[in-house]
Amino acid sequence: MLESVLLILVAVWLLVLLSQNRRNKNFPPGPRTIPFIGNLLELNLENPIVDLDRLTKRYGNVYSFSIGPRPGIVINGVQAFKEAFINKAAAFSGRPNDQYANRVVRQNDGVPGLILSDNTSAWREHRRFGLMTLRNFGLGKNSMEKRILTETQYTIKILEQSHGKPMDPYQLFHKATSNVMCQILFARRFDYEDETINFFLGFFHEINKAVNGRWGLIYDCVPLVRYLPLPFQRVFKTVQTAKEKYLKAVVENNKTRIPGQPRHVIDCYLDELDERGDDGSSFSEKQLCAFLFDLHVAGADTTANTLLFGFLYLTAYPKVQERCQEEIDKVLDGKDQASFEDRDQMPYVQAVLHEIQRVGNIAPLSVFHCATRDSELMGYSIPKGTIVIPNLHSVLSEEGQWKYPHEFNPENFLNEKGEFVKPEAFIPFSLGPRMCLGENLARMELFLIMVTLLRRFKFIWPEDAGEPDFAPSFGIVQSPKPFFMKVILREKNCG
Ligand code: HEM
Ligand SMILES: *[C@@H]1O[C@H](CO)[C@@H](O)[C@H](O)[C@H]1NC(C)=O
Ligand SMILES: *[C@@H]1O[C@H](CO)[C@@H](O)[C@H](O)[C@H]1NC(C)=O
Repeated sequence: MLESVLLILVAVWLLVLLSQNRRNKNFPPGPRTIPFIGNLLELNLENPIVDLDRLTKRYGNVYSFSIGPRPGIVINGVQAFKEAFINKAAAFSGRPNDQYANRVVRQNDGVPGLILSDNTSAWREHRRFGLMTLRNFGLGKNSMEKRILTETQYTIKILEQSHGKPMDPYQLFHKATSNVMCQILFARRFDYEDETINFFLGFFHEINKAVNGRWGLIYDCVPLVRYLPLPFQRVFKTVQTAKEKYLKAVVENNKTRIPGQPRHVIDCYLDELDERGDDGSSFSEKQLCAFLFDLHVAGADTTANTLLFGFLYLTAYPKVQERCQEEIDKVLDGKDQASFEDRDQMPYVQAVLHEIQRVGNIAPLSVFHCATRDSELMGYSIPKGTIVIPNLHSVLSEEGQWKYPHEFNPENFLNEKGEFVKPEAFIPFSLGPRMCLGENLARMELFLIMVTLLRRFKFIWPEDAGEPDFAPSFGIVQSPKPFFMKVILREKNCG
């Protein structure tokens, strides 16, 4: 009995090895794969980035790496990024559609949404609509700028209550950026104690943990277990509840809207639906809910974690913080509020913000792509269907691209004259046709929130808190480990 089981196992093993050997000879080199789980044992899931760096040293900028049974490649360095996502964008801008994350977002309505959609007409139409709508909110009294500054006033109130005491900024920043997204999506903010906002925070955390976690990987590697009542099922329930909340917002806003006078993203979308009627487009109520879900998830966590890294570095590097404050005081002298335009007069602040994004590296592996046709990359053959893992971390710390690739140093973005310069390897939002849709909004938020808070407060690393730990907790979206900062009202702006 045992013998026959062993025999079958050996046979399966050989079959898999054979099928791999049949793989194109010119496929990129990489570590040896194991049947079913691929190369996952190469990674320490606590910090896989270190392992990926090691593999780059060994195999070069493009190497093979399988996620479970699916063949994949990892792309490193700005040169390979540009070849894949710009020069050969049409071959490398798909998304895998059978991963755990896909299953999570399809919960409830069956549509893949925007972020994880392959190159379909629904993706193209929603991407164009999303870019246009966010751009149209640039101006006017309901502008994004206004919405961000209004939310920042609530953040200030909480920080004032913490004057002189150490506080953990995690919840505060996540709530603020979630509210900015809700303001843009359906013109609502939630009180920081509100049940809904706490639901959203818990939900983002759960998704981020699940998709990267062991259970998500098991789901990807062993299709047979997908329908069993294992922990990954819980996330589906939470996603369902979230989508119900977005649907409720759609239905409520539909009652009060005036066609042609959009107040927010939902109204814009409903106008679009009215206009298109039955023209066969992909716009629908279901797609709208998936779209709201995608923007909220993509927009809130990313920006909040960047802010957290920002304040971690600014408290750990008080000289850098002071120099920012000097520049802010000078440029904003006599003004009530900062505006996004002021950034042109603040080269040092700009350099610091960019350096925070570079070292914070909050989406280290971007979002996985998929090869949509057979093609070539850096001389290797990449067949259709290959999963493509863009290692953004490798570009943001690439030797030869940065003056100081491995340390926090705003000089990375300043020339000899002290002017702000942006090296081409600065791509925290990735590049090409799939690049982040919310880049402008994110940069506006980071600038306005940072500048407004630094103008009013001084942030100090508590004396008894030990050494700051800059190592991130790994995730699709990384965050710093929890930390406390002491908040002091600045003399000048106390009144
Ligand atoms: C600091 C903040 C942010 C960072 C670092 C960031 C980074 C990224 C990255 C690396 C990608 C993947 C690009 C690719 O697949 O090649 C992405 C995609 C995306 N981001 Fe962001 N993001 C941020 C904020 C935002 C915000 C505020 C929004 C909301 C409006 C947003 C919406 C999206 C969407 C919709 C996609 C999917 C685009 C597509 O698949 O076509 N992001 N982002
Ligand atoms: C998406 O697919 C269309 C139609 O097949 C193609 O023309 C276009 O180049 C593709 N775009 C990207 C970014 O892959
Ligand atoms: C909005 O309300 C109108 C009129 O009551 C209705 O016909 C339409 O289906 C609603 N749309 C959505 C997306 O709920």
